[in-house]
Amino acid sequence: MTGTFPHTRLRRARATAWSRAMHRETILTPADLIWPLFITEGEGIEEPIDSLPGVSRWSVDLMVERAREAADLGIPCLALFPNTERERRSDDGKEALNPDNLMCRALRAIRDALGDSIGLLTDVALDPYTSHGQDGLLGEDGYVLNDETVEVLVGQSLNQAAAGADIIAPSDMMDGRIGAIRDALEDEGHTNVQIMSYAAKYASAFYGPFRDAVGSRGLLKSDKKTYQMDPANTEEALREVEMDLDEGADSVMVKPGLPYLDIVRRVKETFEVPVFAYQVSGEYAMIEAAVAAGTGDRDALVLETLLAFKRAGCSGVLTYHAAHAARLLHG
Ligand code: PBG
Repeated sequence: MTGTFPHTRLRRARATAWSRAMHRETILTPADLIWPLFITEGEGIEEPIDSLPGVSRWSVDLMVERAREAADLGIPCLALFPNTERERRSDDGKEALNPDNLMCRALRAIRDALGDSIGLLTDVALDPYTSHGQDGLLGEDGYVLNDETVEVLVGQSLNQAAAGADIIAPSDMMDGRIGAIRDALEDEGHTNVQIMSYAAKYASAFYGPFRDAVGSRGLLKSDKKTYQMDPANTEEALREVEMDLDEGADSVMVKPGLPYLDIVRRVKETFEVPVFAYQVSGEYAMIEAAVAAGTGDRDALVLETLLAFKRAGCSGVLTYHAAHAARLLHG
């Protein structure tokens, strides 16, 4: 309830730092952050990514150091993405099923070094493994096949779970994959492996730098509009989320992040389940471009945007600024 001026002056509560702290409705902590990291072959390798200034690909040994850094900062979970060598990519993406692929080696190395002190989320989709850069298998006409792809995604998920993944995160947008993956995880005894579904994932112009990071941008000949959602749609997002929850998703994700906070809010209010958002590569790059151009303050932009996700209803945010933000939050 709001009274009338001057009995009510909303600026009273804002007049001092202690009072602002006392009235703050939304709190951001390092536990709200999931840190996406890119893996590369070799040892002692850090490869900076030009289109994501400040973000690098790390070889497995250095990835273990990043994991330790995250755990020390109170970041609860990493999201891992491999940059698969060209010669290991194929039309059918079968490297995704190799128990010794880059992803699996990174999972085992981090688990060996850190035990259960950090969560490991793995992306399920074939784009880091296909020679055409699409997330699934291609039919004759170039259409991404649904059911055939789901079969491979099930194998990819089991491969990741066997290597130590805690959260399987399908980002492929095939229909029916959550149920198929859940069934397979149960059958294989991975009953406590969670599924965080990229449930409302849009065909977005904000993914470009990520595709550089995993090495798929140059390979991709067309867009992903036959499986990722039309940015115009909200009702459809609710249907996507409902299906994934019915099929056994433990939590759902909205992606990209900031331009889609309305979707976060609607999903949260409709389903009252844990909702995460992905502040994607293009969003990160936009903040860094603003900083480089001298038109924005990095620390303030990072904390404000991340807080906005929490305010909209997110349980957590995947962000390339996770380590930086956690450091800021520790003061
Ligand atoms: C792959 C995948 C993408 C992202 C996460 N998983 C790219 C895409 O769908 O083309 C994007 C993340 C980002 O831009 O930071 N399926």
